[in-house]
Amino acid sequence: MDFVTSSIDESYLTSATSMLSLSISHALSKLGTYLMTTAVETKTPLPPPPGPSLWAGLTAYKRDPAAYMHGLFLEYGDVLRWRGFMTIHMLNNPDHVRQILTQAHPEFTKNAYDYHVLAQTLGKGLVTNDGSDWVKQRRLMQPMFHNKIVNTFDQVINAFTAVLAERWNQLPADRPVALDREMSRVTFQIVAGTLFGSAIDEHADEMVDILDAININTKTLRAFFTLYPWIPTAHNRRFNTVMRRLDHIVYKIINGRRVAGVANKDLLDRLLSARDEPTALGMEEKQIRDEVVTLMLAGHETSSTALQWTFYLLAQHPEVEAELLGELNSVLNGNPAAAADLSRLPYLKQVVQESMRVYPPVWGIARRATNEQEFAGYRLPAGAYISILPYSLHRHPEHWPEPERFDPTRFSPQRSESRHSYAYIPFAAGPRTCIGAGMSMLEIQLVLAQLLPRFRLRPVPGHPVSPMATVTYRPRDGVKVFIEKR
Ligand code: HEM
Repeated sequence: MDFVTSSIDESYLTSATSMLSLSISHALSKLGTYLMTTAVETKTPLPPPPGPSLWAGLTAYKRDPAAYMHGLFLEYGDVLRWRGFMTIHMLNNPDHVRQILTQAHPEFTKNAYDYHVLAQTLGKGLVTNDGSDWVKQRRLMQPMFHNKIVNTFDQVINAFTAVLAERWNQLPADRPVALDREMSRVTFQIVAGTLFGSAIDEHADEMVDILDAININTKTLRAFFTLYPWIPTAHNRRFNTVMRRLDHIVYKIINGRRVAGVANKDLLDRLLSARDEPTALGMEEKQIRDEVVTLMLAGHETSSTALQWTFYLLAQHPEVEAELLGELNSVLNGNPAAAADLSRLPYLKQVVQESMRVYPPVWGIARRATNEQEFAGYRLPAGAYISILPYSLHRHPEHWPEPERFDPTRFSPQRSESRHSYAYIPFAAGPRTCIGAGMSMLEIQLVLAQLLPRFRLRPVPGHPVSPMATVTYRPRDGVKVFIEKR
């Protein structure tokens, strides 16, 4: 009994002790949890970036979106949030840009509104594609854009430019000429001629119109409806007609090449003869169509815009034009430049670089964050829409003194040396950098080198030159010029 009693007592004691120790440990654990919770609570969660709503500056935005957004960076700093139809996070620090485009690029995809709109036209071509499909296609096409191959395009570029020069030669000096049309045609002929052979030539004018209509569509509000092409708006009906015509021409070209046989060794051949490694299957017809349309659109409007702005800037800055002419005349002696001559024309390259700094043909680059991100102490949620604006980076006051001044010598080797490499990104950067960067630099320089020594372009007085931000940043009503022979 005693034993029982004592045992009861003992067990009571034991259980009392264990109860006590349980309560102590419970209390301790509660205290721990409390302390931890308090610690978490006292760690202030990162705030979202500052920034206005779209409605606050709608009029200024509509006038010139790029200039308006640049103003926001000057007001709010390099990380800001812009609340409109959707919230867009805008970043203007070259370190952040490097992070997004290069260092952490898989975390920033192209699953963004701009690319959904573009995909209406481009399908899953290289610009709009993502993930492993994109890797496969980029790997396939990259060799065609290797410098060794691109440099052999110089003769085709010069030949199309010579045809243009011949036409300009016949023009009376007092007839106003729409430079956008002239440049679009020649850059389209160049991209089509170098990458797809001559089959597109007969459709050049119509294709320029079609691609132009598509480009403008992408930055109007009506583009939203083209995401749902079955909605019977008048705009959608027009858009669908344009798309049908575009497809008809492109499929005709693809089928024509299939029938004629693959022998030109151009990009179209490469697309047609590509085989998937494990399956040995060829590329689907629709994928070939998407790549062709992508290269035609991405490859001509951008270079055309750069050429227009360069001619315009040169006309505004006669001292730069005179220096450039001096260089061209002394090196080329009236001949067109070959690719190999460009290393002896450093000022020509600087002029083109500076023109694309002031007026970057692709003024905005969009991305979407796959997970939560932190930039400069601000939190960007998973799924955040991100915008990087070459237009603004190229005017960043910390990297570009007197940013509005057109001064090609900024790109002299001495002055470029210490500059942040992500403060200048007309062709973007990182794995998704422009595949045609080398080609377009060659093209723009060769066209200028041939035309400038022969013609002086004078902007028509009174014709307004104001920028319009579509996919490209281009003169709204083009640049109108009188073309005089030198
Ligand atoms: C002055 C001329 C040009 C400029 C300023 C320019 C600019 C750019 C920029 C900024 C991007 C990146 C877009 C993004 O990530 O959202 C890009 C991509 C691209 N560009 Fe260009 N481009 C030019 C000429 C060309 C030419 C001549 C071609 C082809 C013939 C071309 C084909 C492409 C393609 C296919 C891509 C997508 C690359 C990829 O994601 O793998 N571009 N370009």
